[in-house]
Amino acid sequence: MISIQKHLFDIPEDITYLNCAYLSPQLRAVKEAGIKAVAKKSSPWELTASDFFTESEKCRALFAKIMNTDAENVAFIPSVSYGIAVAAANLPINTGDEIVVLEEQFPSNYYAWKAAADRAGASIITISKTGEDCTQSVLEAINDRTAVAAIPNCHWADGTLIDLNAVGSRCRNYGVTLVVDASQSAGVIPIDIKLVQPDFIIMVGYKWLLGPYSFGYMFVNDKHLNGIPLEYNWMARDRSEDFSNLVNYTDAYQPGARRFDVGERSNFVLMPMAIAALNQVYEWGVENIQKTLSILTDEMAERAIEFGLSVRNKNHRAPHILGIQFKDGVPSKLAKSLKRRNIYVSTRGNSIRVAPYLYNTPGDADRLFQTIKESF
Ligand SMILES: Cc1ncc(COP(=O)(O)O)c(C=O)c1O
Repeated sequence: MISIQKHLFDIPEDITYLNCAYLSPQLRAVKEAGIKAVAKKSSPWELTASDFFTESEKCRALFAKIMNTDAENVAFIPSVSYGIAVAAANLPINTGDEIVVLEEQFPSNYYAWKAAADRAGASIITISKTGEDCTQSVLEAINDRTAVAAIPNCHWADGTLIDLNAVGSRCRNYGVTLVVDASQSAGVIPIDIKLVQPDFIIMVGYKWLLGPYSFGYMFVNDKHLNGIPLEYNWMARDRSEDFSNLVNYTDAYQPGARRFDVGERSNFVLMPMAIAALNQVYEWGVENIQKTLSILTDEMAERAIEFGLSVRNKNHRAPHILGIQFKDGVPSKLAKSLKRRNIYVSTRGNSIRVAPYLYNTPGDADRLFQTIKESF
């Protein structure tokens, strides 16, 4: 178990931040890397051609180590919507095909599929997440007609879990492409990529990977490495390191998933921040983060149940996002009291979403449950 890491963040004493699923607070190390990086542009004469490549390769390798995959399979994306658009542009979707999505999944993993389905005369099959075992519902929806399963492994609104090992196996049996939005799990829930064999895993970097906004990652399976990128940026082309040769245009790409990198991926401000964040996540270790956060959410789940509130069963909920459901709706007083006491959670329908991280203390949970108790 990892001890409380609040000293590495700038979180004032009177703030109880239980909303890492929204945006992570910034590590001090990430902020410092960003400030240094901003200053660098004041002296562009110090920037060499290799600077356009070295930091990105460092970041790619570090991310690959965290995901336990190969750097050759990693691309940089600015957003999940961008990554999903890459995936959708590289998958054949035909008339009569079905695309499986989960009810109320994040819209960035919906609109591109809706557009692709409309173009092809295919249909979107939406899996309800009201049953206890969502994985079973996803498995049952995948059949001969399914072209793509485009799902999260952890639902953004309440932490509902999907077992990717089971879904990956089912997808392989039916020849279905698996696209995973791991924005709410990467950095906390390890994915066994060799076992699951997903086609694409796409994620933001600014939540549980603690990085800056507008800087995300995409894992691309070997079988798609010859695919078409969304844009035709020069840096993704073969020998782009040689600035004197850029206008000897070439059809050849840089190796691996680099062809899918967003334009200007060297991003001199965000890249060093992302590296600082990934370094810290790697140092803690994803499995240790998972264990530590699951102890926190298990304790909160027990307290919620004592108050007569409901949470998803431990086997079907994420270790770091707890949806606490109020049978008769979230008490009207609660939102105001939380705000007054600087307690940050998200309210969604009849539930509140509590998403703690390593900076949270036992006092944070006490303040939340004291406030809930007083709101009845
Ligand atoms: C599951 C999930 N996917 C994606 C995003 C963000 O998508 P985008 O990067 O397209 O803004 C969020 C933001 O909350 C999210 O929760």
